[in-house]
Amino acid sequence: MGQTMISHDEIISRVKQLVDSEVSRDAALREAVRILKAECAHYNWVGIYLLDGQMLVLHNYIGKATEHTHIPVGQGVCGTAVAERANQIIDDVTAIDNYLACSLETRAEIVVLIRRADDIFGQIDIDSDTASAFTSQDEALLEAVADLLARRF
Ligand code: SME
Repeated sequence: MGQTMISHDEIISRVKQLVDSEVSRDAALREAVRILKAECAHYNWVGIYLLDGQMLVLHNYIGKATEHTHIPVGQGVCGTAVAERANQIIDDVTAIDNYLACSLETRAEIVVLIRRADDIFGQIDIDSDTASAFTSQDEALLEAVADLLARRF
């Protein structure tokens, strides 16, 4: 499991406070990205894409600038998650064909959908410079965060 500065439960509790607060949806999405980036050492790039029709649009991120601000459903790891309606954990991004590189240092990627039942609103996308950085514990943490964020849609 990757190093976190505070426990997963504490991260989830902070995001719950955020979602339950008066802040706008935009601010909540930005603050969630900030918390995840600050508290999880192996999260080198953290962003949220929102689904607009058949296009994923980058809402906010922390990490290296990326040219992939718009990703059609079905393209890349991000677009595959929506097309297959399933979270993605990629241990080695260099091993897959359908990958859109944001940074040459990236080795692993996780995408967790922000959804309510069949409705997909967007996704949390995280890159790590460490191969096989993401475990089912990261997925569980990010699912809890995504489910909280989904309440704002
Ligand atoms: N790697 C993603 C594109 C987004 S960047 O990682 C920020 C993909 O293959 O869809």
